[in-house]
Amino acid sequence: MIVALLNQKGGVGKTTIALHLAGRWSREGKRVIVIDADPQGSALDWSAQRARETAPRLFGVVGLARDTLHREAPDLARSADHVIIDGPPRVAGLLRSALLAADLVLIPAQPSPFDGWASAEMLRLLEEARVFRPGLAARFLLNRCAARTVIARETADGLVEHDPPVLASRIGQRVAFADAARSGRLVDELAPDSLAAREIAALAAEVEAVAT
Ligand SMILES: Nc1ncnc2c1ncn2[C@@H]1O[C@H](COP(=O)(O)OP(=O)(O)O)[C@@H](O)[C@H]1O
Ligand SMILES: [Mg+2]
Repeated sequence: MIVALLNQKGGVGKTTIALHLAGRWSREGKRVIVIDADPQGSALDWSAQRARETAPRLFGVVGLARDTLHREAPDLARSADHVIIDGPPRVAGLLRSALLAADLVLIPAQPSPFDGWASAEMLRLLEEARVFRPGLAARFLLNRCAARTVIARETADGLVEHDPPVLASRIGQRVAFADAARSGRLVDELAPDSLAAREIAALAAEVEAVAT
């Protein structure tokens, strides 16, 4: 399966979720490859930081921030159980290519009643990709949800019928994710029993269920 984390908005958690899904599936014994499709290379940076700190290698991160991504990804997918694409911010060609490569598109978004979760451009590109890939599945993933935010809950509950649909698993706003980003680690390595680690485990299971 090739899962792409895409949203032209920056800071919504594409890289964070990509790395944590990869870590979770690796720990379950699956062969995972992360494709860093962001020219800024934050997933590659995380991986390099991890190597510097001599933390054990869990999965490979490949830099492929180019428009031929959809032609190169299937080769990688043959040697892995799951390929995860960490998407670029506002680069139409790259985003198109990632959409053509994916079996499942996850759109991380911070719940807010004030603006849309993805740009109109992002949703237009998704529709465009579906012309070529009619079976392309897509889901919103609510990330950085504040605890006890009624607005966040209402926003999500009101949008079960939303297209793309919203995953039931949500990820809270938790400092563990920022600590993990800095140290080349994952939240379950820093705090195995944390809420953050449990949310990631639930998300990984739900995503696999959606895709199979
Ligand atoms: N659930 C979360 N809780 C706290 N911080 C988060 C969470 N998700 C992401 N972050 C932080 O927000 C920043 C942006 O996240 P990132 O994954 O880099 O977003 P994107 O790849 O979409 O630009 C990073 O510093 C990251 O550590
Ligand atoms: Mg990123």
